[in-house]
Amino acid sequence: MVSVSPETWFKNAVVYAVDVEAFNDSDGDGVGDFQGLTQKLDYLDRLGVSALWLLPFYPTPNRDNGYDVSDYYGVDPRLGTLGDFVEFMDEAEARGIRVIIDLVVNHTSDQHPWFKAAQEDPDSKYRDYYVWVDERPPPDPERATVFPGEVEDERVWTYDEEADAYYYHRFYPFQPDLNLANPDVRAEIYRIMKFWLELGVAGFRVDAATLMIQPKHPDAEQLDDPHEVLRSLKRHAVARRSDAVLLAEADDAPGELESYFGDGAEMDLLMNFVLNAHLVAALATERAAPLAEGLERLPPADVGQWMNFLRNYDELNIGRLPKDLQDEVFERFAPDTDMRIYGRGIRRRLAPMLDGDERRVKLAFSLLFSMPGTPMLLYGDEIGMGEDLSLPGRTSVRTPMQWTDEENAGFSTASEDDLVLPVVSGGRFGHEEVNVAAQRADAESLLNWMERLIATRRESREIGEGSFSVIDVDHPCAFAHRYDFNGNAVVCVHNLSDGKCSLEFDLDLVQGDALYPLLGNADHTRHDDGSCEITLDDYGYIWLRLHRTGAGASRRSASESGQQSRPEGPRAQSESR
Ligand code: NOJ
Repeated sequence: MVSVSPETWFKNAVVYAVDVEAFNDSDGDGVGDFQGLTQKLDYLDRLGVSALWLLPFYPTPNRDNGYDVSDYYGVDPRLGTLGDFVEFMDEAEARGIRVIIDLVVNHTSDQHPWFKAAQEDPDSKYRDYYVWVDERPPPDPERATVFPGEVEDERVWTYDEEADAYYYHRFYPFQPDLNLANPDVRAEIYRIMKFWLELGVAGFRVDAATLMIQPKHPDAEQLDDPHEVLRSLKRHAVARRSDAVLLAEADDAPGELESYFGDGAEMDLLMNFVLNAHLVAALATERAAPLAEGLERLPPADVGQWMNFLRNYDELNIGRLPKDLQDEVFERFAPDTDMRIYGRGIRRRLAPMLDGDERRVKLAFSLLFSMPGTPMLLYGDEIGMGEDLSLPGRTSVRTPMQWTDEENAGFSTASEDDLVLPVVSGGRFGHEEVNVAAQRADAESLLNWMERLIATRRESREIGEGSFSVIDVDHPCAFAHRYDFNGNAVVCVHNLSDGKCSLEFDLDLVQGDALYPLLGNADHTRHDDGSCEITLDDYGYIWLRLHRTGAGASRRSASESGQQSRPEGPRAQSESR
């Protein structure tokens, strides 16, 4: 038995991303709040998630869903008070649920007092908190706006009359970039981290980590060692709390990703955008090849870990897929141009992309949870919520949680017009059909299945910590893989297609070895030669545990002697090798 190290808790965590304002409204003003979230902790506890990732909840003009922060030390008054936050933290801790919060320090809101002071006074120390030039630099393809089509002239420099200068912003003009090369800015960030760690958070999701360390402009103040910024965040986090984790939004080229792990001194978890796009491509094409290719593109995650997801609250970015594959995914999952955004993304939730077909939704989540890394679930995906395409941009996937079939989906008692966003009503994904209460009552529901999936992943430390390998099954629509850890193994087999498939592969089984299903219900037969035969239904899946006893155990421990409890990560022939 290899014991669990408190510092690596995240390797077997199941993370649930929640936007407080869209989850549960306790006071009937139409906006979700911390007291409302606290009331739902028992729900989350029963669901079995072990960590919450809270989207930004700070005071904000709220022009980018809270990613435009005007005060890093408070709670948006619409969502409650700091006291409510502390009570929420206490209740989460009492249930053993850890809380990770968004750290949005690539930029501030233009309403942040630092920016206001910078605008007003060229001699203020806050002037150098941001990046200014006197003449607008020519467009630079390396530094284009992140939101093409949503920012006037696609610009990243905006003239500020008060300052009589241009300031830099990779996102919207109301989100001026901070100058991370300025040590005073970095000191501010350490203080912010310290504050929230004192209040009990288990770590941070580092927003826009790639852009934080990218040189803002050739003539701007440069960081001598860009990754040192991320290493310093890690040092400050663990100085306060030894098990604190940093989860980076690093949507960088695959060849660059390994650097964010920094040999264990930087980010613990990276949001796995590469695998996200390839996993979705495999679901769209019903072929295993895109998934295998995605895994091969990933550098090894020996010291840190991937955080895998199918959807988040932004667009589903498929921009890094080969062009022909992008076209196939768009065609299948976003046939109308209105379902697409920024030329690279899809603004839909998972269940509608899969036509609400529960077999396919379960297949998708079974695959996700079986991938090397830590799985993440977006609130509402556990019941198969849909999107509202009549809402602009990315808000289509940010509608309130659907608790019941009652008015406002049980999210709020406010009048419909006062809701933070309309609830999805009517049709196949409306709250009348898709809601927590109805799925609680149905033993076969997606929600109840999701609980089983989460529990199974949490008891399968092989996946979080074992060594991963792909099993050659010689079938275009099937993907099989295994994890070996501590003498045992977990074997996962998935059929991506709408047709039965039978597979036979060697598992090196010997007499005395036990092979039993953990999840899924495919027929499996073991043969005397050590192989296994599995027949999967349309979109079928199975996870098996291989428990070595007797001869198998001793042979394995001899061959594995020297194997550490360290995860191997996907052994990729990546371009970084
Ligand atoms: C990444 C976040 O995921 C996105 O929602 C936001 O718009 C940008 N960062 C800017 O903060």
